Amino acid sequence: MADHDVVVVGGGGAGLRAAVAIMETDPRLDVAVVSKVYPMRSHTVSAEGGAAAVIAADDSLDEHAYDTVSGSDWLCDQDAVEAFVREAPLELLQLEHWGCPWSRRPDGEIAVRAFGGMKKMRTWFAADKTGFHLLHTLFQTSLRYERITRYDEWYVTTLLVDENRVHGVVAVELASGLIEAITGRAVILCTGGCGRVFPFTTNGNIKTGDGMALAYRAGAPLKDMEFVQYHPTGLPFTGILITEAARAEGGWLLNKDGYRYLQDYDLGTPSPTPVLRSMELGPRDRLSQAFVHEQEKGNTVDTPYGPVVYLDLRHLGPEVIDAKLPFVRELCLQYERIDPVHDLIPVRPVQHYMMGGVHTDLDGATGLQGLYAAGEVACVSINGANRLGSNSLPELFVFGRRAGIAAAEFAAAQPTGPPRAVQTQAADERRRLERDLLTSRDGRERMADVRTDMQQTLEGCAGIFRDAGALLSGAAKLQELRERYAKAVVEDDSRAFNTELVAALELGFMLDVAETIVACAMRREESRGAHQRTDFPRRDDARFLAHSLVTRDPTGAPSVSYLPVTITRWPPGERVYGR
Ligand code: FUM
Repeated sequence: MADHDVVVVGGGGAGLRAAVAIMETDPRLDVAVVSKVYPMRSHTVSAEGGAAAVIAADDSLDEHAYDTVSGSDWLCDQDAVEAFVREAPLELLQLEHWGCPWSRRPDGEIAVRAFGGMKKMRTWFAADKTGFHLLHTLFQTSLRYERITRYDEWYVTTLLVDENRVHGVVAVELASGLIEAITGRAVILCTGGCGRVFPFTTNGNIKTGDGMALAYRAGAPLKDMEFVQYHPTGLPFTGILITEAARAEGGWLLNKDGYRYLQDYDLGTPSPTPVLRSMELGPRDRLSQAFVHEQEKGNTVDTPYGPVVYLDLRHLGPEVIDAKLPFVRELCLQYERIDPVHDLIPVRPVQHYMMGGVHTDLDGATGLQGLYAAGEVACVSINGANRLGSNSLPELFVFGRRAGIAAAEFAAAQPTGPPRAVQTQAADERRRLERDLLTSRDGRERMADVRTDMQQTLEGCAGIFRDAGALLSGAAKLQELRERYAKAVVEDDSRAFNTELVAALELGFMLDVAETIVACAMRREESRGAHQRTDFPRRDDARFLAHSLVTRDPTGAPSVSYLPVTITRWPPGERVYGR
């Protein structure tokens, strides 16, 4: 058993920022960063378009806050948004000082670009490889601290909890199969989202909702799980993201007739040049919904990988594309064999982000003492029913730092050494893994089949549009899949790099998360942001201006209740983009 002061689970943007914040808060503490991949392979690396924070002279914190609040369809907590917009510029400057090579204007100032739903230019970027540069900067910064111990390629299977307090985790070292308890006075979950619950997603294979399920199983509520973001422009076969920056730089979305169809959806006016209120820069929920309407009208193009529309960048010319969107060109050439300088890019909406996650306060504290969460795994909530593009990167740093400080202060005040009960729990978990998973069993179910069926079920019932009938049958199907999962076999009983075992554990987590998404979507009888119920097409503030909270009841089923939304300065209003 290894013992530390704070255990951070996840080595991406939020996890590394939290680890550094702990060191800055109290250099006497020691920190474990436990991650199922090497930190530089965390999903933050794939972020493309940029990070929002007020910097331009004509912008203000209030305008960033208002865009975020209205973009969220008034479901965010406004105290969290106010803290977020205030601290985001400080975080991005801090990253600059640590070495992040932000793109610059010719006069040397930080360059900013437009982004969807933002009415001012405030998205900082490093060409279109922003996530790579940010993660690299944080990783290098973390290497300065000898008291950060990394557990790279260790997979966390459970939280150790005694009397409503978290004392660490149990994890499998993937290289050896060793199962170990890693204890700590506080644990911070920074494991990212759960996009792999869906079949078509921009998310890497690692985003399987592990942290959400760990917290949920341990008794911490999840919040707003029905709010699933689709990004309007994914490549049709792979789901690889074509960044919103392509539209911010002036790209157009065209239907099968070459028509800029978004002008029919009250999202702004067609503009020959990039302008902030141009319709291609509407918010993601509205753009993805418009795609479905175009499909219903027969205006999309059928391909072997589903219906598509086209993203047209040709008028931008090779200079702009190579300077501002080099990665877009690279991805199109490598994955579609097309060159956006000359060709239209086929795109379709793709699951991209979870607005919901582990319920936390402004300092990342969850419903369990000693357990914190930050980043996409958490719901603090600044995103409400729909996140604006480029708000998620600064969210990692603002709330990663806050969680790090809070966890450090909590850990420093606790007695050292875990209680005896925790050792027993760790031994039980080791036995469970050996017996249930590492022992070869007979059986006919294959994990991969259960996973595929779960993904199709979620897309079918909890995609861009939902209704009671589809959600009810989705819930029943998930129940059946849970029974099939219990009978499914891990055929590989080897210890070293048993990726089949990891996939099985991930699938168990994903089934939990999938159930919470469907349960929350079923209960919310209104349409708001990314949650569109065709049987309840209007927003209903009287009944649902509230966060859903979901916990696991004693039978293991999800149980949904509601929590008021915090409104500080912006009373609920209409979301207006077109005028
Ligand atoms: O399109 C993008 O570059 C995505 C950005 C984001 O999700 O914040």
